[in-house]
Amino acid sequence: MPDAKTYPFWFGGVATCFATLCTHPFDVVKVQLQTNEAKLRRSDPGAFKTMSNLVKRNGWLCLYDGLSGSVFRQATYSTTRFALYDIIKGQLADKDGRLSILNASLASIVSGVVGGIVGNPADVVMIRMANDRKLPLAEQRQYRHVFDGFTRIIKDEGVRCLFRGINPNMVRAIAVTSSQLASYDQIKEILIFHVGWSDDFRTHLTCSLLAGLVATTVCSPVDVIKTRVMNSSRRMGAIGTLTSMLKNEGIRGFFKGWLPSYMRLGPHTLVTFLTLERLRQWYDGHRRVGTPGTA
Ligand SMILES: *[C@@H]1O[C@H](CO)[C@@H](O)[C@H](O)[C@H]1NC(C)=O
Ligand SMILES: *[C@@H]1O[C@H](CO)[C@@H](O)[C@H](O)[C@H]1NC(C)=O
Repeated sequence: MPDAKTYPFWFGGVATCFATLCTHPFDVVKVQLQTNEAKLRRSDPGAFKTMSNLVKRNGWLCLYDGLSGSVFRQATYSTTRFALYDIIKGQLADKDGRLSILNASLASIVSGVVGGIVGNPADVVMIRMANDRKLPLAEQRQYRHVFDGFTRIIKDEGVRCLFRGINPNMVRAIAVTSSQLASYDQIKEILIFHVGWSDDFRTHLTCSLLAGLVATTVCSPVDVIKTRVMNSSRRMGAIGTLTSMLKNEGIRGFFKGWLPSYMRLGPHTLVTFLTLERLRQWYDGHRRVGTPGTA
């Protein structure tokens, strides 16, 4: 049977929330490296050293600072993104359920932008929570959880602050979504239709790892900018951040946090798509048994 099926809209959201539980510690390390404004030096502690210093100073639990923000971000951003992508894909796919690169990119971009907007508030809170321990005590925000963060931000800085960094976030969403989803689908198609692999675990694993590698590298610069804009209490724009970074930190500054970023996105992409394929198989099994002939 061809691949022209639809699945419940929330499958993607569940898959990414599950993945986030595994990868949030890398998010914390990533954010802390990305907000380091000094020029990179040979003597800088890398990702592992930063992580072990954090644990030594604050205990293991600090690696889960901002988890509620992270999960809520996935629940909003990724549910929207995956659901919209599937809806649009359903509209644009040909009879065999296949999508041209052009139409796949279109689906990615629309779903990424809308997802980025919906997920922005939780993103701001998550980044501020993950960065909090780095700040001097007087500057710490100490949000207790994502909803405390929302109310405090609205009270102290106004509703608009929840949408701070929305421009780099939309750009990032486009870049992540198109590089991740489209390269996953395209690599899968190549492996299955041209290399002759079957639709199994090995194929899903290979697609996930390659899609993650592409996505991390493409998205690093805009991710660093987004993190800084969202963290800052001052109203600073993406372009201003970009030019001042270029001047003070050079090109390498835009790849701060690349390693934890891949260590996050790699397994994140992997767990997401493995969970998603499992959910789909489980659903197909139930649907075939439960309602024969209506697939
Ligand atoms: C992050 O926000 C804190 C609190 O406003 C600020 O002290 C710090 O300089 C910010 N870091 C960056 C890189 O903007
Ligand atoms: C994209 O999808 C539309 C609608 O199904 C289709 O008419 C069009 O040919 C597709 N474009 C490409 C480049 O395949």
